[in-house]
Amino acid sequence: MCGIVGFTGARSAAPILLDGLKKLEYRGYDSAGIAVMDGPAISVVKVKGRIASLCERTDGGQNVSGVTGIGHTRWATHGAPTEENAHPHLSNDGRFAVVHNGIIENYVSLREELMSEGYRFESETDTEVIVHLIEKYYRGSVREALVRTANRLQGSYALGVICTEETGRIYAVREASPLILGIGAGENYFASDVTALVPYTRNVIYLEDGEFAELSAESVRIFDCTGQEVRRKVSRVMWDVQAAEKGGYEHFMLKEIMEQPAAVKATIAPRIRNGRIEIEEIGGILSGLGDIRSIVITACGSAYYAGCAGRYALERLSGIPVRTELASELRYSDPLIDGHTLVIVISQSGETADTIAALKECRDRGARTLAVVNVVGSTVARLADSTVYTWAGPEIAVATTKGYTTQVAVLYLLAVCFADRLGRLPEGESGPVESLQALPRRIQQAIDMNPGIPALAGKYHESRALFFIGRNTDYAAALEGALKMKEISYLHAEAYAAGELKHGTIALIEEHQPVIALCCNRALMEKTLSNIVEVKSRGAEVLALTFRNNQKILSAADDLLFIPEVDPLFSAAVEIVPLQLLAYHVARENGCDIDKPKNLAKSVTVE
Ligand code: AGP
Repeated sequence: MCGIVGFTGARSAAPILLDGLKKLEYRGYDSAGIAVMDGPAISVVKVKGRIASLCERTDGGQNVSGVTGIGHTRWATHGAPTEENAHPHLSNDGRFAVVHNGIIENYVSLREELMSEGYRFESETDTEVIVHLIEKYYRGSVREALVRTANRLQGSYALGVICTEETGRIYAVREASPLILGIGAGENYFASDVTALVPYTRNVIYLEDGEFAELSAESVRIFDCTGQEVRRKVSRVMWDVQAAEKGGYEHFMLKEIMEQPAAVKATIAPRIRNGRIEIEEIGGILSGLGDIRSIVITACGSAYYAGCAGRYALERLSGIPVRTELASELRYSDPLIDGHTLVIVISQSGETADTIAALKECRDRGARTLAVVNVVGSTVARLADSTVYTWAGPEIAVATTKGYTTQVAVLYLLAVCFADRLGRLPEGESGPVESLQALPRRIQQAIDMNPGIPALAGKYHESRALFFIGRNTDYAAALEGALKMKEISYLHAEAYAAGELKHGTIALIEEHQPVIALCCNRALMEKTLSNIVEVKSRGAEVLALTFRNNQKILSAADDLLFIPEVDPLFSAAVEIVPLQLLAYHVARENGCDIDKPKNLAKSVTVE
């Protein structure tokens, strides 16, 4: 995915565009560029690499004059990360500049058509067809050219457009990629994410698919795909600028790990009333709960692992069979899903391409759909029948932490809520609700109980590979722990269900091989202990994650991570915290770019 910004007003545009791009850099960071209009001339500056290089090249924007402009930070899909492929792209006549987030699926045929008509291409991108189409259809009205261009495009796009014939104006177009307008005083903006807007305004409009906006310093007009003007309500962003700043932490990831007690509290606390779970947003789902015969949880990456972690509580407490499916698999699996299936779709960004496709597939088969989403107004949130927001606040680090724990927390809430509505919580049974209420505290304890993690990172950071093992909810947390390690430290890390070791993986255990064993379920403790003994007797070094008073594990392991004792049904959200910290400190030891790991982007808007 990529990030786009636009500004028009009376101030110098370039510094504002650069500032916005810095906030969006988590969305892609292999090249960047801005196009600024000064009178009827467009200056374009592009670099391969980070926004910092773009700032350097433009002296923080000081050497690019003009009060109207657009900007882009790229995660390459079509064409290598080079200056030529960086956005903005210009039309052949130099009158239009375009930035784009998304994918144009029919770009090959459009490119051939345009080339046969004499248009010259300067890049390998899919985006460039857009700017040439605009030039082709322009007959004196950018708005009309955009309507005709949008009609030719298949795929997803959020576009920013400027034209030398309309100084002081920026255009924004949305189809299946996020785009938000910022409404200021005497200046207006657009951006892929509100984080780029909040330093300037809290008044925003979430564009709908198929809509486009015409912004000048004084006005914001929105049109539908036929060119008819439409009215949209202005929303107020409630969180403040500091939420998207590092706040004294070395990395966003560390800040976000530390924010987890507060984030999980913000997710859970407002949904507990008089000792019961009340989730207003799912009234429709609750009224039809008796008809639900199965629950399918679908998502990608960590959001999928959140589903794996929440599945146990959901199935055990509701009594409804629950299965988890990777969204990228489900969408092509011709799934057995019907009107008696509740599909829970999980996504921090709400923009993940495979997750959106799986959601649509399930909806088309008649399933009821419930989204667990963090980003307000995102595509997944709009498509589902009901949405439960996680209220984690902005998550900037590419590796999710508070996004994951709040997703798991929502699944726990759903589990207890469903059990209650289905009459499966015995009268006066307050245990599950109390466990959820205590979760933020337990997460804080898990942070406080492990001051030795930097030293452990010093011991393990040069390992060739790390194996994570556990059973049931321990296994679910192990999956996410291993992903965290892989994505930010680039160490090979794999999670195995502990009972599976003997079926192959144990062949890899040799002298000093680190094995991280999760043992936070007393009922399964002896079983995991026997796996610890098996790997130790083959030379492994065992780092166990368990409770402070768990004597047997304490004496079997070489090193220890701790969590407070938690009901195993709800423990994954606590277990993951020391593993996030371990991954963070290993990556730090290895000098990795923790907030922006190589080859990744915050949300994957392509298949
Ligand atoms: C997690 O650290 C990853 N960056 C990634 O696996 C992520 O969880 C996945 O791409 C899903 O994203 P989403 O929650 O925004 O849909």
